[in-house]
Amino acid sequence: MCGIVAAVSYRNVVPTLLEGLRRLEYRGYDSCGVATVADGKLQRARSVARVHELAEQCEEDGVAGQTGIAHTRWATHGAPEVCNAHPLVSRDHVALVHNGIIENHEEIRRQLQDKGYVFTSQTDTEVIAHLVNDCYEDDLLKAVMKAVGFLKGSYAIAVIASDEPHRVIAARQGSPMVLGIGEGENLVASDAMAIGGVTDQIVYLSEGDVVDLKPDAWTVYAREGEDGAFMPVEREIRVVHAYAGAVELGPYRHFMQKEIFEQPRAVSDTLEGVAAISPTLFGGNAEDIFKQTKRLLFLACGTSYYAALTAKYWIEELAGIPCDVEIASEYRYRVSVPDPDTLVVTISQSGETADTLAALRHARDALGMQKTLTICNVATSAMVHESLLSYITRAGVEIGVASTKAFTTQLTALYLLALTLAKLNGRLNAAKEEEELKRLRHLPVAMSAVLALEPQVMAWAERFAVKQDALFLGRGVHYPIALEGALKLKEISYIHAEAYPAGELKHGPLALVDNTMPVVTVAPNDSLLEKLKSNMQEVRARGGELYVCADGDSVIDTVDGMHVIRLPENYGRLSPILHCVALQLLAYHTSVSKGTDVDKPRNLAKSVTVE
Ligand code: M6R
Repeated sequence: MCGIVAAVSYRNVVPTLLEGLRRLEYRGYDSCGVATVADGKLQRARSVARVHELAEQCEEDGVAGQTGIAHTRWATHGAPEVCNAHPLVSRDHVALVHNGIIENHEEIRRQLQDKGYVFTSQTDTEVIAHLVNDCYEDDLLKAVMKAVGFLKGSYAIAVIASDEPHRVIAARQGSPMVLGIGEGENLVASDAMAIGGVTDQIVYLSEGDVVDLKPDAWTVYAREGEDGAFMPVEREIRVVHAYAGAVELGPYRHFMQKEIFEQPRAVSDTLEGVAAISPTLFGGNAEDIFKQTKRLLFLACGTSYYAALTAKYWIEELAGIPCDVEIASEYRYRVSVPDPDTLVVTISQSGETADTLAALRHARDALGMQKTLTICNVATSAMVHESLLSYITRAGVEIGVASTKAFTTQLTALYLLALTLAKLNGRLNAAKEEEELKRLRHLPVAMSAVLALEPQVMAWAERFAVKQDALFLGRGVHYPIALEGALKLKEISYIHAEAYPAGELKHGPLALVDNTMPVVTVAPNDSLLEKLKSNMQEVRARGGELYVCADGDSVIDTVDGMHVIRLPENYGRLSPILHCVALQLLAYHTSVSKGTDVDKPRNLAKSVTVE
């Protein structure tokens, strides 16, 4: 998703801005740009290529300056073309970068066109640039404060003006933005990682904040009092060690590969400090809330949604509490039946996904469901901030667009939730608790054993790389894992992949099976294995080629057209956490074989902060 970096300094800020953009590349983008103020003039470079090409362009065109703004754009309004890349400029006076979506841009555009403003892009952002210019009298801060009053929608913006060479004004509403305090320079960015190379002094700006940055000073303003006038406000400065090293690849070819291999460490970190199963893991007042909980409602998107689907199996079986799982983007707009005794659980790697955040607010504010819990990888995110309870997974920064270690750490946290609810419901005795904890603590070792299967998965990947389609089958708690495997494959290798509960095969999808169709089957040695074997026979009878992820002790007779990889251990209820690792490796190596952009697949963004 779009990324912003802006800085005002006593030195040339362009290298800082470009490094910031490089650190934001993981979010996904299709164009990028930089603008500076120097000698009373705006300079600008924009590109539909990568950040390193933008850097070459800045070098060639001599783009430099002590005040500047920069952006990576993920197209929403207008195609990914140079004319739509940010910064957008108004009459050589104001330059602006923007994340978010302005909902009333057409109305404002018409008003500005009537005043003679000429639009050169199809973006909603250009509207803000002209609007700020139109509001400008002699002070950029006042102009931005006035302009944001006209905007409906979400924005994080950073603005410079040619006649105010030592000033950046930034504002946010609905899109995240941080302020970074340096020595003789101040910055804003979409996240702390973008400016982690410059400063660890970070202010998380609140909704509606406007900030005035100069090299030696910064002031945050918020609407205060009855008239809603902007007044200076205090904001807490936090020391954020912005993930030094997280953006380094080390010995790996891609971030996704690195993150797949980091999973034993990530799971172990997520379990750190879990000495016993206790509601306090989820927050001080969790016990009271959990004891009143009669039902759970999970809200999430993408991979996080599949984590929720997996959790439903665990919680209903272990704790005996009914769970509903909804795709956040659907839930927020449908008419549903509110229940104040339901615990609303949002799951998100980023904690900033617009649909999930909006679904949480809808449940809480519109439907009055006050009991909220977020499982999230980012402690400072809006979702964590807005939920009563939270569990912070410790995956570390996830750069690859395809989520991997965030998923397995979410599953780990969700299993702890299932055990906690089971214990409160009198369904987990001390001996069982000890056994479950032992198993959880051994999980990183078991995951490492699955990672060691990489060479076998690579052999499968060679065969997948030439396919157009694939089917994934699973049963029970492994059905969500089949869904996740299909999502991984499609998002990075662009192979069309669908997942079904294996019992559904004969109700339609079997028609797709012929000798060109690879069918991946998640086949742990559980109570459904015999049923699954019948489904596998249905596939073989139609010539479909089977790729079976089995356990070491799954009794499966291999026949022609069947390829079996055996995971070393049967891991009981936690088996989904192991089987998904094999499917991540399959997607990764298929993508590598095909030569697609593993970490930045086409059309996708890491953090989807717009609707
Ligand atoms: O940050 P979130 O977990 O809320 O993100 C949700 C989805 O956008 C995300 O899981 C997406 O589906 C991934 N690209 C999947 O690999």
